[in-house]
Amino acid sequence: SLYSETNRPQFHFSSRRGWINDPNGLVFYDGEYHLFYQHNPYERNWENMHWGHAVSTDLIHWSELPDALCPDEMGTMFSGSAIVDYENKSGFQKGREHVIVAAYTADSPEKQVQCIAYSNDRGRTFQKYSENPVIDSNEKWGTKDLRDPKIFWHEASGKWVMVLHEKTGMSFYGSDNLKEWTFKSHILGFWECPELFELPVDGNYLNKKWVLYGASGTYLIGAFDGEAFTPETDKLRYFRGKMYAAQTFNNVPEEDGRRIQIGWGQIEQPGMPFNSMMMFPTEMTLRSTREGVRMFSEPIKEIENLHSKTYSWTNLDREQANEEFKSLSGDAFHIRMKIRLLKGTEFRLNYNGNSLLHYDINWNNLNGEFYGGDNIETLTFYYEILVDKTSAEIFADHGKFSLILPLAEKKSNHGFKFESNWGDIEIEELEVHEIRSIWE
Ligand code: FRU
Repeated sequence: SLYSETNRPQFHFSSRRGWINDPNGLVFYDGEYHLFYQHNPYERNWENMHWGHAVSTDLIHWSELPDALCPDEMGTMFSGSAIVDYENKSGFQKGREHVIVAAYTADSPEKQVQCIAYSNDRGRTFQKYSENPVIDSNEKWGTKDLRDPKIFWHEASGKWVMVLHEKTGMSFYGSDNLKEWTFKSHILGFWECPELFELPVDGNYLNKKWVLYGASGTYLIGAFDGEAFTPETDKLRYFRGKMYAAQTFNNVPEEDGRRIQIGWGQIEQPGMPFNSMMMFPTEMTLRSTREGVRMFSEPIKEIENLHSKTYSWTNLDREQANEEFKSLSGDAFHIRMKIRLLKGTEFRLNYNGNSLLHYDINWNNLNGEFYGGDNIETLTFYYEILVDKTSAEIFADHGKFSLILPLAEKKSNHGFKFESNWGDIEIEELEVHEIRSIWE
């Protein structure tokens, strides 16, 4: 039956049928989180893009609704974003509900143009604006790499802002009514799916910084005045692996105040009537580190609502931990652990024939990436891990860096195992939660 297939992710969103990629139009409105996404409703592969749609009241359990945007004479429906136009600056609001306005790219063989659509019924149906496209910059740039509008309300300048991938960078546009857009500036060096938001540093609202990122996980921290972004860092990176095109929610209630991100998980679901998935929502923060301010990404606390059975241990050696792992069952886990490298140089955590993490101190290297972590002097390493049927997310140092991996199909049930070919470890803290399915 629906959602009970062998390779159905248990606590990550996937569509009932068809292919999905980028999350689109992430917006909260009146008790509901909207997750739109790139969807091919007919096949397991990328083609024929629609905007799929799902809603949630808790960011965990999702109900899939009919597709929100379908291809038209301007092209197929590529990625974009959505806002709530509380003051009806667009004039699209008709009834009593505030209007949700989506910005998307229409892709045809000749062009990519930016369009808008609006909903007066809580996102259930959308009307495309009759004067679309609102931006056609194909001639100006001499390319059709022009896509993925991210729109948001910029409080300080009292304008709508759009960040748009154009050619080999990101452009910034401004608008009063969401219909007419004026080009303001351009920054080189990012590809696809721009995102731009402001966050307090170490939770201090008197010291806020802006973050600009593209689809692949590199980001800059800096200043944004509503028209141009001024970097204050070199290009940084907060994840590696199979995540792409992550977006954050617009309009999360002020009393919540979190910046919540969902990324596309480029994870195959072999043999299934659906393909690919969303990564688990994470909370984005800016924190001071020895190297300066960095962006952190950690699973949202709502994960705790899915804990079904909890195990916790302290001060285990490798063999004891491997023995304790045998009591676990199921295919979905949330793990927190603190590991100390006792002597030697490396350790590994395997799961069903997959190497979830492998740290090597010689190269200060985590899973083949130069990333040694913050506690290299004390040789103590902190990881949080989410394991689902076909994917694993590994968050190092409270989310300073994350890795997203596909998992090979389960062959035998040999579970988790710590290994260390050159040295040994002490598992100072180990907390494992079995996770219940969100589809139950
Ligand atoms: C990123 C992307 C976007 C585009 C969409 C099309 O994965 O290439 O730039 O809008 O996918 O599906």
